Amino acid sequence: MKNDMKEILLTEEQIQEKIKELGHTITEEYKDRFPLFVGVLKGALPFMADLVKSVDTHLEMDFMDVSSYGKSMVSSGEVKIVKDLDTKVEGRDVLIVEDIIDSGLTLSYLIELFKYRKAKSVKVVTLLDKPEGRKVDLVPDLTGFIVPDEFVVGYGLDFAERYRNLPYVGILKPEVYEG
Ligand code: PRP
Ligand code: MN
Ligand code: MG
Repeated sequence: MKNDMKEILLTEEQIQEKIKELGHTITEEYKDRFPLFVGVLKGALPFMADLVKSVDTHLEMDFMDVSSYGKSMVSSGEVKIVKDLDTKVEGRDVLIVEDIIDSGLTLSYLIELFKYRKAKSVKVVTLLDKPEGRKVDLVPDLTGFIVPDEFVVGYGLDFAERYRNLPYVGILKPEVYEG
């Protein structure tokens, strides 16, 4: 799979070191608040799995799967819930865990949804942020790395469902996605 990469953007070591830092910050902020971590399927799975292991306080995990109609050229901003939470968010300190923020549509929808459901607080941690992709104003509370406006895969991020299982993040060679 490494042959398909134009460049390794973030090594496994860089990612794991950053996650430890994020884990410490989150531990301080959420100590004794029993936060609800919401992982956004499927991309956030590897990040969620590693992040929770570096957080040293009680927490609850749940997952949500949404699909955005805003992926095409024309962005409607509409998001469909494919799998909802099993947990009530009312009165909870919710931390949304994402692998990447691009347009910001997925997250802005989820933030509004959890506020509407009367969460006590709603914050966002993302491993990667691609600010050049933004269609709506959205600044994550915690960010691992800023990435350029390129086709990045690995560590949860897919191209046609592949590459999610890479332990690193890389930029795909154009010939790979151009077929
Ligand atoms: C990707 C990524 C984020 C979202 C970011 O998920 O994992 O969830 O897109 O894009 P946005 O900021 O433009 O909304 P995707 O919908 O591709 O599903 P996946 O996680 O299952 O790959
Ligand atoms: Mn996703
Ligand atoms: Mg995807």
